[in-house]
Amino acid sequence: MSYSVLIVEDEPVLARNMLLYLERHGISCQTAASGEEGLEAMETARPDAVVLDHNLPGQDGLTVLRRMREREPQLPVVMATGHGSEQVAVEAMKAGAFDYLIKPVSLHQLKQVLDRAVQQQRQAQELRHLRGGGVAGVVPAAQGLAALLGDSVAMQRLRSRLRQLVDAEERMSDGHPPAVLIGGETGTGKELVARALHFEGPRRAGPFVEINCASLPAALVESELFGHERGAFTDARERRIGLVEAAHGGTLFLDEVGELELATQAKLLKLLEDRQVRRLGSVREQTVDVRVLAATNRPLEAMVQAGQFRGDLFYRLGTLRIDLPPLRERGGDAVLLAQAFLARSARRYGKAGLRFADEALQALSRHRWPGNVRELGNLVEQCVILATGAVIEADELPLPVMPEAGPGAPLVLEEQPASLPETERRLLLSALERNRWNVTQAARALGISRDTLRYRIDKFGLRP
Ligand SMILES: Nc1ncnc2c1ncn2[C@@H]1O[C@H](COP(=O)(O)OP(=O)(O)OP(=O)(O)O)[C@@H](O)[C@H]1O
Ligand SMILES: [Mg+2]
Repeated sequence: MSYSVLIVEDEPVLARNMLLYLERHGISCQTAASGEEGLEAMETARPDAVVLDHNLPGQDGLTVLRRMREREPQLPVVMATGHGSEQVAVEAMKAGAFDYLIKPVSLHQLKQVLDRAVQQQRQAQELRHLRGGGVAGVVPAAQGLAALLGDSVAMQRLRSRLRQLVDAEERMSDGHPPAVLIGGETGTGKELVARALHFEGPRRAGPFVEINCASLPAALVESELFGHERGAFTDARERRIGLVEAAHGGTLFLDEVGELELATQAKLLKLLEDRQVRRLGSVREQTVDVRVLAATNRPLEAMVQAGQFRGDLFYRLGTLRIDLPPLRERGGDAVLLAQAFLARSARRYGKAGLRFADEALQALSRHRWPGNVRELGNLVEQCVILATGAVIEADELPLPVMPEAGPGAPLVLEEQPASLPETERRLLLSALERNRWNVTQAARALGISRDTLRYRIDKFGLRP
């Protein structure tokens, strides 16, 4: 795997040492001797990962880490701290560091951590891309309740319910709010609701730590969640803080909780009951103060019946439940959301003033949206990228033609969204055709560079 790393380290010998070792392993490196220099290099060199010393002249490592996270939230940063500065490591993890290393840094280990960071970041990027979650046009401007758009009765009720929960939490005397289980089909806004509960509530200044239970490999789950002591198992060269501990004082969001293995479910239950964690290889229990939110699109009750999900955990997680309605049950929200997303995307692509034709709006309100709000957001963004005029017509919407539903009409199967490569191929082809195969113009319409488009034309073997 080839990638680039920015090393922010003021001790020249150590910096050079790291650089030589990493370069020998095919990783391209750049060094910076202060936080200020590091921040600048981050923007100009666009590294895939950063190694950041804690003890820097001028701005200290933690400050620099926070700045980096603000500017590039996806960029993995590995913090290097001195011996005996465990607290710094905890702070670094809370502030969003990917991991930390205790000096003197083992170069072999440094490379392992960096490999893992870059790999995870690439996977996450791919996943966001595949699932459309990262489509910038749909990323909420605000994180709170205001990010939840929609005027339907269902949405109004949802917002007032969330407001009630937050108010109740503000008033709680012991500060231990009950867990909330968020249900609903894919793309209905479960994650958005979890963020709203955190960022509107009394824990908003604390960390919001998100765990995707589906992507946790069973073998690693425990050390990821609960951390481990040095030497707890063969690869555990350093002590590592678990995600639960990193969420201390804030919220732990267990996404896709229905995917957890039974063995892990038992450990989580213990956490919810005792509010304590024990790192692998440690004899000591630590008390943690976390608010737990969980989300799933699976029918947990049925899974409990079938013995696939622990009943006791289900009741613990679901003291309070919020079920998000599918978009097709939200009346005129599809149109309202489409207009809001259109305005947002159009601004972003420099096509302000772009609007939907009346018939296009009708088609949008007729569609059943199996992928819910996410599907809608992706569709609008595609339209904006491809739009050539000032109005988006109904036949420009990449909607499947649906048979009329009516009495006696055959059951309509929810259509499978086309695969990502297929969607991309169609998107490219359509942009090229609209621009009579003028690559420069097509690239501009797509919002990508000419080189990128050329590369993709070759990749897909596109021909006029
Ligand atoms: N009511 C809403 N207003 C504005 N944007 C929304 C709304 N609901 C969802 N979105 C947007 O739609 C996308 C999907 O939402 P989200 O990721 O919260 O869905 P989810 O229920 O967690 O889906 P999944 O089950 O697939 O993980 C996000 O980009 C989110 O910002
Ligand atoms: Mg989600």
